[in-house]
Amino acid sequence: MIDHYSPSAEFYDMVAVRHIASSGPPLARVLAGIDTGRGPVLEIGAGTGRVTEVIAAALPGAEILAAEPSATMRAQLMARVARDPGLRARVTVTDGAAQDMALPDRLSAVVIFGVAGHLSRSERMILWRKLAGRLPEGGLIVVELMGVTAPRVIPPTMSLRETIGQQTYEWWIGGEPAEGDAMRFTTTWKVIHEGRTVREVADSYDWHTFDVAQLARESGMTARRIVEAGGNAIPEIGVLTK
Ligand SMILES: C[S@@+](CC[C@H](N)C(=O)[O-])C[C@H]1O[C@@H](n2cnc3c(N)ncnc32)[C@H](O)[C@@H]1O
Repeated sequence: MIDHYSPSAEFYDMVAVRHIASSGPPLARVLAGIDTGRGPVLEIGAGTGRVTEVIAAALPGAEILAAEPSATMRAQLMARVARDPGLRARVTVTDGAAQDMALPDRLSAVVIFGVAGHLSRSERMILWRKLAGRLPEGGLIVVELMGVTAPRVIPPTMSLRETIGQQTYEWWIGGEPAEGDAMRFTTTWKVIHEGRTVREVADSYDWHTFDVAQLARESGMTARRIVEAGGNAIPEIGVLTK
């Protein structure tokens, strides 16, 4: 697996803060009240741990298994867990990637936010099958889709602009169709000081596009979409129910 997240991991939390403001509340609502007695709630691609905090708050009794393959992202996840006594007691951090992570025999639920397009369709099918075998009847896999359901041209657009200290950070994203169902995204972080760009960190990665209907076909589970919360549009979330 190529780690596309380490080069720009220092900036990621600026994205995550905004992301959690929109996607955190609907995720918390979907998870609220589920039975967590069967096994851990698995979070795949936990990033810097912002979604982990939402899961922990929504499910106060749950054990959480937070898997994050990028060492730089995982360092931030680990720091977030280590400084919070409530998280330390019940979040286990691993370096597992979706394709080959060791899984416990039983899971209560699964959360996979901002990750599933990093897997090809066949990799996802294998993953859904493995997860379904560990979930109870009615168990949930909550998948965030990122809002791109088919390859298309997305001109470079500034997605975020934040000032921290005396520097301003801009996040530019563009994309174009790649092979098959994939989009090739190019992202650039610009660090601006006194009106001058003093650093640029760029990367590109492929994202396999899909929609909720595709998820239902791949997984054999029932699927529903959540596209807004509190009247605001959110990156589409799919809820798969075994
Ligand atoms: C867009 S970030 C989302 C992080 C976090 N889930 C969130 O929503 O804030 C995608 C994360 O998925 C991880 N990732 C990429 N490929 C992966 C894979 N094959 N298996 C598991 N995680 C992966 C990356 O390292 C990165 O931390």
